[in-house]
Amino acid sequence: MSSYASLIFLFLFLFLRASAQDPTYLGYNCPDTPTYSSDSTYFTNLRTVLSSLSSQNASYSTGFQNATAGEDPDMVNGLFLCRGDVSVEVCRNCVAFVVKDTLDRCPDEEKVVLYYDQCMVRYSNRNILSTVNTEGSLVLKNTKNVTSNKKDRFRDLVLSTLNPAAVEAASSSRKFDARKANWTASQTLYGLVQCTPDLSREDCLSCLQQSINQLSIDRTGERYVVPSCSARYELYLFYNESATIKPSPPPQLLSTPPQPEKGGSSTGLVVAIVVAIMVAVLLFIAGYCFLAKGSNKAYHISYALDEFHCATGDNITTAESLQIDYRSIQTATADFSENNKIGQGGFGEVYKGTLLDGTDVAVKKLSKSSGQGEAEFKNEVVLVAKLQHRNLVKLLGFCLQGEERVLVYEYVPNKSLDYVLFDPGKQVHLDWTRRYNIIGGVARGILYLHQDSRLTIIHRDLKASNILLDADMNPKISDFGMARIFGLDQTQQNTNIIVGTYGYMSPEYAMHGQYSMKSDVYSFGVLVLEILSGKRNSSFYPTDGIHNFVSYAWRLWTNGTPLDLLDPVIVDNCQRNEVVRCIHISLLCIQEDPVDRPTLSNIVLMLTSNTVTLPVPRKPSIFFQSRPRKDPLDSVDDASITDLYPR
Ligand SMILES: *[C@@H]1O[C@H](CO)[C@@H](O)[C@H](O)[C@H]1NC(C)=O
Ligand SMILES: *[C@@H]1O[C@H](CO)[C@@H](O)[C@H](O)[C@H]1NC(C)=O
Ligand SMILES: *[C@@H]1O[C@H](CO)[C@@H](O)[C@H](O)[C@H]1NC(C)=O
Ligand SMILES: *[C@@H]1O[C@H](CO)[C@@H](O)[C@H](O)[C@H]1NC(C)=O
Ligand SMILES: *[C@@H]1O[C@H](CO)[C@@H](O)[C@H](O)[C@H]1NC(C)=O
Repeated sequence: MSSYASLIFLFLFLFLRASAQDPTYLGYNCPDTPTYSSDSTYFTNLRTVLSSLSSQNASYSTGFQNATAGEDPDMVNGLFLCRGDVSVEVCRNCVAFVVKDTLDRCPDEEKVVLYYDQCMVRYSNRNILSTVNTEGSLVLKNTKNVTSNKKDRFRDLVLSTLNPAAVEAASSSRKFDARKANWTASQTLYGLVQCTPDLSREDCLSCLQQSINQLSIDRTGERYVVPSCSARYELYLFYNESATIKPSPPPQLLSTPPQPEKGGSSTGLVVAIVVAIMVAVLLFIAGYCFLAKGSNKAYHISYALDEFHCATGDNITTAESLQIDYRSIQTATADFSENNKIGQGGFGEVYKGTLLDGTDVAVKKLSKSSGQGEAEFKNEVVLVAKLQHRNLVKLLGFCLQGEERVLVYEYVPNKSLDYVLFDPGKQVHLDWTRRYNIIGGVARGILYLHQDSRLTIIHRDLKASNILLDADMNPKISDFGMARIFGLDQTQQNTNIIVGTYGYMSPEYAMHGQYSMKSDVYSFGVLVLEILSGKRNSSFYPTDGIHNFVSYAWRLWTNGTPLDLLDPVIVDNCQRNEVVRCIHISLLCIQEDPVDRPTLSNIVLMLTSNTVTLPVPRKPSIFFQSRPRKDPLDSVDDASITDLYPR
């Protein structure tokens, strides 16, 4: 064979091989991270991680695997995720390909994300599991525009397809959902959403929600991809439909749809804007500002602490007086036995315990990912323990045992508000007087955190399950100050760690990580609506024109039928004027612009005085639907951060 012929042969071979097997490359993100050299321990560890990700016994059938090698500071954490519908074979090939490809595309960066159509590979020198990461987004758009007179209807269809898909995916173990909807007689809309399955339901939902919000929905197809999740829709079938049928499929899913036109192949896709550099640079700047403020803050804290010691004279709370022997907590909780477990929060598990003197306590065992130093942890605990108010759960002490960190709280007997409020059998115990009392108590508790304590504490995760009820059904807020104790305020990625809970989070917090006292006000507004309606905000599925709980309440208000919101249990036995006032206040709290929302001191005033005239509420943001008002890359709102510092 002449060399000429063999060259052609080789060329054909490569071409065929490439088109038959190679996954479709989408983009990568290896921003300005530290680099390693090829003789470093990091590189050795990276190769170990990559080879275990692409090993024969990796879990291609579940489509997700993580791997770790080495120790800090040379530790490498890696993972792969295959698209939920691809076969084991496709997944294996994709991962094998990417593992080879990565050292060409990102030869010496320590943190890398590589996106392919069928799979994604990611590694970092940090722990990347169970943490939402929405940095470095990749946006791909179909070139075809949607006809302008159909835009709104198309947008509605896309959102009403992707939103329930997001809810379903977040609740499923594989964190994946794909579904379709009829667009025209001949066209079908296909949507697909997926998170990495290491995320919690809330984290997955929040990530998807942010991604769906970023879709501009002016094209016939679009995708938004970040390290933790992705969302995509098209007017053609882009996934393997038979692999997405759920265990008990509704009958219509079995009939094959008419073959839709191939609207856009991968060549029809335009890699649009965004990607790494801009995001990374802006986040870096934001992070840098944050860090700069962080060190400032540490200074302020020690200052505030000294001042406090002087001011309180004899009654000094110190770390020594709060530290409890770890063994006595082990004894109190029967060594953290499963039987004693009473809850599971974002920051760790909660156990009931009985101390030797007979006092009941609630013991929170913090999950290990807190990166705080011991001294700083003690400082923060002391500060939080000083926050004392009848509507706050009292922090009694803490223990440290090696890596283990435990907080000990007073035990509040009647469980949490959600346990009573949303249970048809139990909600009768909450008549209007009690609910009104709970609303007022929660408002005073947050007001104390925001204003009356010596520190300005933003709760960040106010929700029904964080409101405990004492023997007389008085509310006590729990989980406050956790961001401080966990050291989140000090980290660079601070604003990317969303501590809140989907449904209660204000749009600016959920989308841009901007939290302030006004984001607590938003959560309070949602909570009041839940107390009035006896329904979970998350129990709402988007239906015709109503996208969620908040838009439902707004619809009733604008229709002049706000009382339709009320829980039937209280409807016949309530003070109409108080109820309407509460609805009015809650609508003021959930207004889109944080500036429009009232402060807690105004809320308490409005709740207690009938003579204060309430402003007219503006339309709330319809979370899933609304586009960000500002460019999402705008740097972090200064005011919202400085609110965190001690005054
Ligand atoms: C298979 O998995 C085991 C442990 O899970 C690991 O030690 C081994 O190296 C893997 N095999 C290959 C070929 O990587
Ligand atoms: C993956 O992560 C889990 C949870 O952190 C861990 O228990 C497991 O050992 C990890 N697997 C590998 C192969 O590193
Ligand atoms: C799509 O719409 C944009 C503006 O909305 C316009 O600039 C662009 O030319 C349109 N593309 C096509 C293919 O019609
Ligand atoms: C879509 O249209 C087909 C036939 O026109 C119908 O059988 C099917 O039920 C429709 N699907 C949905 C989800 O409405
Ligand atoms: C689609 O999924 C089904 C079921 O998992 C599988 O049998 C089939 O081979 C897949 N088709 C393709 C083209 O991957």
